Amino acid sequence: MSFPSTRLRRLRRTESLRGLVRENSLSPADLVQPMFVVAGSGVRQPIDSMPGIDRLSIAELVEEAGEVAGAGVPAILLFGSSSEKDEAGSGAFDDEGVVQMALRALKEALPDLVVITDVCLCAYTDHGHCGFVRDGEIDNDVTVELLSKVAISHAEAGADVVAPSDMMDGRVGSIRYQLDEEGHPGVAILSYAAKYRSAFYGPFRDAADSAPASGDRAGHQLDPANADEAVREVMLDVEEGADAVMVKPAGYYLDVVRRAKDEAGVPVAAYQVSGEYSAIKAAADNGWLDERAAALESLLSIRRSGADFIVTYFARQAAQWLGRDS
Ligand code: PBG
Repeated sequence: MSFPSTRLRRLRRTESLRGLVRENSLSPADLVQPMFVVAGSGVRQPIDSMPGIDRLSIAELVEEAGEVAGAGVPAILLFGSSSEKDEAGSGAFDDEGVVQMALRALKEALPDLVVITDVCLCAYTDHGHCGFVRDGEIDNDVTVELLSKVAISHAEAGADVVAPSDMMDGRVGSIRYQLDEEGHPGVAILSYAAKYRSAFYGPFRDAADSAPASGDRAGHQLDPANADEAVREVMLDVEEGADAVMVKPAGYYLDVVRRAKDEAGVPVAAYQVSGEYSAIKAAADNGWLDERAAALESLLSIRRSGADFIVTYFARQAAQWLGRDS
């Protein structure tokens, strides 16, 4: 039947009707707040290219994480960085490193908050690359060993979930094996399985002080032109033992999120990255977009594409907006 007997507008006439037939939802329980921890005390350092996001020292981090949890957000994704950098990024697996100390403080103060840690070397290497560089190229297998050490040090300090974001081959299998060997069978792996070489990470690299000193990340991150290859990455990480997989960025890769959801058989996360956040923020600050409406629409679209949960810098704010509405 078609018009005039079929009129799709009938079910759009009131908010109650629209609510009855609404297919997807967004709730604070679906969100993860990324946070940046730095050494020192009393530090609350705004990141110019990410309005509303600060780099925090440990006490400030714990306080703010408490507010995030209080808004109904169940998890944070923790990033650290260090001014003491070397060629192996060894600050990343230092038991007294800032992430490890922050983990202990978070777990003591907020035992119910899920803490996910980013596992990478780029904020700790003197060249800013995500791995150990030999003859101008990242040595995959040496890097995988270093990343496994990072994951274990995070697990030992109390991480609930480790999230390798480096895109080396074979790192999920190695991390799973070594976590189990070292007595951490309960620590989950959220793999950044389909991470693209994206221009939208720019603001993050200011925040984490992790921009490569030369070259780019095209030798390991996915080519934005490819989607079949992303599915292969996802399936390999699942075979290697990933408990959940992530697609990153989110908004420009919704097709990849959908394919991952259809094929992976494990929970799928999507990461709305720094550039996606800052673009909405900048437009809103100019009065060109309604921040709340644009942010919530972007997040709902990511859910509609199949993401079970979303890592987003809007998490805390969105939880407050959503809480006020419901
Ligand atoms: C580390 C890492 C990056 C991001 C998350 N983990 C940067 C990169 O790959 O250069 C980006 C996050 C964002 O832009 O919000 N490898």
